[in-house]
Amino acid sequence: MVETRVIDGKASAASLRRRVAAAAAELAARSGIVPGLAAVLVGADPASEIYVRSKAKATREAGLAGFEHRLPAAASEAELLALVAKLNADPAIDGILVQLPLPPQIDPQRIIAALDPAKDVDGFHAENVGRLWSGGRALVPCTPWGCLVLLRETTGTLAGAEAVVIGRSNIVGKPMAALLLAEHCTVTLAHSRSRDLPAIARRADILVAAAGRAELVRGSWIKQGATVIDVGINRVAGDGGKSRLVGDVAFAEALGIAGAITPVPGGVGPMTIACLLRNTLIAACRRRGLPEPAV
Ligand code: GUN
Repeated sequence: MVETRVIDGKASAASLRRRVAAAAAELAARSGIVPGLAAVLVGADPASEIYVRSKAKATREAGLAGFEHRLPAAASEAELLALVAKLNADPAIDGILVQLPLPPQIDPQRIIAALDPAKDVDGFHAENVGRLWSGGRALVPCTPWGCLVLLRETTGTLAGAEAVVIGRSNIVGKPMAALLLAEHCTVTLAHSRSRDLPAIARRADILVAAAGRAELVRGSWIKQGATVIDVGINRVAGDGGKSRLVGDVAFAEALGIAGAITPVPGGVGPMTIACLLRNTLIAACRRRGLPEPAV
């Protein structure tokens, strides 16, 4: 048995937000620039509504300018492309975030391709993806960046570690693998079709679970002392007819085996918005050729 450290994502996110706010205040004092973030929501998906609202609040609190754009659920792809073109051309906007998922009549890849890569604070545009994999100056997707910040804070250097990422989404799994590779980890990108997932997971010094399957990763899949980052947010039926949130890792089983683990909620989740603010600040500086704050 090991003593498992529960990683406090709320505290790390608050600390990152304070660093972003301090750098934004300095930028405003020095050059009068207030980075602007536009969030675009199509339709009224309840989870997306909550997410966009908490983004708006965090944006204000960090001293950035937040703009919200809402289109009806029946909006056409052409309407959304027209809005993206307007935001691309607007000098007050440094970051554009189009909330996913989009309604079925809109192809997300066409929308992402239309974003100005310099304003793509989600890091989803092919230009940013290519820069991330080739070691260039990318805007990096927020959730994997948040995971990396937690890992660095928890384990110090990652060089040489065996890292296993479960899940190959464009938003989390693939960019997470790229970031861990850049940190000199030996990276395995596993997924639902991988043969003997438990055996692959057991190799990991660093295990990132981003498969979107409730409690997929069992205690027996975890190597003694491994650092486990749980990206999953799954709503499952709980006691008394109430639902509860669980991650992709069976948290109670991991205690006493993992060296450190992120809880759900309160682990990776709070980091995502903090990283979005960081990306907006960085985009504002890069677009103007100003030095980037180290946040
Ligand atoms: N939907 C779920 N996660 C994300 C994200 O990181 N960015 C955007 N734009 N939409 C999402």
